[in-house]
Order: sequence, then C-alpha cells, then structure tokens
Amino acid sequence: MKILFIGDIVGRVGRRIVKEKLDYFVNKYGIDFVIANGENATHGKGLIRHHYEELINAGVDCITLGNHYNSKTELAKYIDRVDCLVRPNNLLKEYPGCGSIVFDVDGVSVRVTNILGSAFINEEVTSPYGSMLDVLSDDEEAIIHIVDYHGEATGEKQCFAYAFDGKVSAILGTHTHVQTKDAHILENGTAFISDVGMCGFADGVLGFERNSVINKTIYGKQSKFELPNEGRGLFSAVVLDINEITGKCEEIFNIYFEEEK
Ligand SMILES: [Fe+2]
Ligand SMILES: [Fe+2]
Repeated sequence: MKILFIGDIVGRVGRRIVKEKLDYFVNKYGIDFVIANGENATHGKGLIRHHYEELINAGVDCITLGNHYNSKTELAKYIDRVDCLVRPNNLLKEYPGCGSIVFDVDGVSVRVTNILGSAFINEEVTSPYGSMLDVLSDDEEAIIHIVDYHGEATGEKQCFAYAFDGKVSAILGTHTHVQTKDAHILENGTAFISDVGMCGFADGVLGFERNSVINKTIYGKQSKFELPNEGRGLFSAVVLDINEITGKCEEIFNIYFEEEK
C-alpha cells in the first residue's frame, strides 16, 4: 500500500498548494491513502470545520493535529461529528475526539495515531511512550499503523522511533516545519523521518511572513506573526510503500516541491 503523508499545512497558501498539487502526486506515485497534518491550516493555528472539509474534499483521507489542536475552539464542537480527524492521543486533560483511529482502505485496516512530544512543547501531556503502549495494547485490528509524532526535538523523535521499531509501520515527525534529510527504514521495518516539513508560504519563516517574525525574534519588538494570503508555495511530504501482510515499510522517500520564483 502506498501512503502519502503531508507535513503541517500552514494557512491559506498551504491549503492552496495542497489543493493544487495533491492529485498530481497521488497519480504520480499511485497513492492509496493520504494523511495530512492540519494543525496550522486555519490562519496558522488550529483547524476550523470549514477548512477540515476543504482538505477532505481536496482528497485528504485523514487529518492529524498537534500542539495547536485547540487553537480554534470550535474543534471541540465538531471533532466527534467527523470521521477523519485524529487529535493528540496523550493529552493530560479530558478532550473530545480520538487520538488513534482505524481506517478501512480498500479492505485493509490502517491505524493512524497522533502523539505529542514532551520536549520543548508547552502543552501538558502524558508520557508519549506510555500513551503509545496503550494504543498498541488495544490494537487487534490493524496491521498497518502510521504514527504522526508531533514534537520539537529531533533526538526525542529518534528515541521514540527506536523504541517502537518493528511495532508500527512508520513514525513520522511533524511540527518543526523544516523537512529533514533522514528518511529511512529502521532495522525492524519501521519507516522514520525526524520531520516531514510543511506546506505553506516558501519565502517566510516556517510559513509566516518573515519580517513579522524577525522583528520579534531578532529585534525583540512587539510583533504579531503575520500570515501571507498569497505567495510562492512549498509542498513537503513523504511517500511510504508498506507491505500489507507484514505491516513493514519497504520504501520511504521525501517530496520537497517549491513553486518557481
Ligand atoms: Fe506544532
Ligand atoms: Fe505546525
């Protein structure tokens, strides 16, 4: 089975490039199932229902989230009414929705789990390791299991991947918005990349308008991060080829597509 996993979709430029390029990559690589991280899809933080529908209508089959899951509070009102939205599994507080969902992909069960890292992340979470053990102990359905590990620290993501090598099909890092070059398959058949990267405005800082970020980060000025509504887009993703009998990944490669200047 071929799975396309798309990194954090940031704002309007991110949604536009996903809508424009998704069919092209799905056809080019014979993709059966599309997962996308949507935690920044609504103006950089959170996901309103309208944008959830927009991405699903564009061809995304499953949307995962991250530390901005609750930035648009309407999520709590609709997450239980939709079928394809996975929030972080290891939240400390009670929250609607589910952190691990099984999808039927042409008769094959595919589990998608969203785990929030604990290093340099403000949200209070339960142990990512313990949370993942709970998911695995409950799982009797799915051979194929894709984990979106939403975290800041590459080292934490590597440790997590080694801890679960052979137990899941893929552990894919999200959140930093910068794609890493370390996509590979671990010894026991689990695919791993520290970060898939983002879909959004290519000429800014992590998808945001650059001067608004520089003014605050470098010069210490009061500055609200601005998100451009148009501009050159970047599309970051990985393609996975997974054996449907063993659940092990046989190939992983990255997509890093930038629109021309
Ligand atoms: Fe994030
Ligand atoms: Fe993000």
